[in-house]
Amino acid sequence: KRTAVLISGRGSNMLSLIEAAKAPAYPAEIVLVVSNRPDAGGIARAQSFGIPAKVLDHKTYGRDREAFERELDAMLVAEGIELVVLAGFMRLMTPWFVERWNGRMINIHPALLPSFKGLHTHERALEAGVRLHGATVHFVSPGMDEGAIIAQGAVPVLSGDTPEALGARVLTVEHKIYPQALALVASGQVRLEDGRAVCRAAAE
Ligand code: GRF
Repeated sequence: KRTAVLISGRGSNMLSLIEAAKAPAYPAEIVLVVSNRPDAGGIARAQSFGIPAKVLDHKTYGRDREAFERELDAMLVAEGIELVVLAGFMRLMTPWFVERWNGRMINIHPALLPSFKGLHTHERALEAGVRLHGATVHFVSPGMDEGAIIAQGAVPVLSGDTPEALGARVLTVEHKIYPQALALVASGQVRLEDGRAVCRAAAE
């Protein structure tokens, strides 16, 4: 499946997907990276792997979210994109865009959903005193961090953890589960049906 990765920052998850997709049998091919921030470190990293990385600066569109998304959508369609992967993409999508890519767009969130939706998840996990934390890959739905769950990975919270130390531990699990989850979706083994992620036998 022709796949685009959307980023806003350093792009370490993007890199883990690019690495995984090098395997000949991997069912997704990363053919495009789009950043909504011109200064995202991930842009140069994608290019160093020979993957075209484009900037679509949301600031150019002011408050008109849909104008930005229409342009993004046109870019994806022009490249024949079949799957959209959000990897540290820090923009909420409007219901129009989410509906258009329903079942074909996934995101990774650095917490075990439905706990700790939104930002600053590692700080909040430490404040709450949970003993397990982690990351979740989910289909994107109109509610923030609310879509059907595809995969999760857990890590222990250790005494003396700082948000940075905990975040680094979670990141290693993100790099493991995101390529696995993308493979499940790209191969058709997991689909979105009636708002839930449903497993099936591998597509023929
Ligand atoms: C990751 O922690 C991801 O879960 C969150 O934003 C961070 C992006 O990191 N949505 P990177 O750009 O993939 O390194």
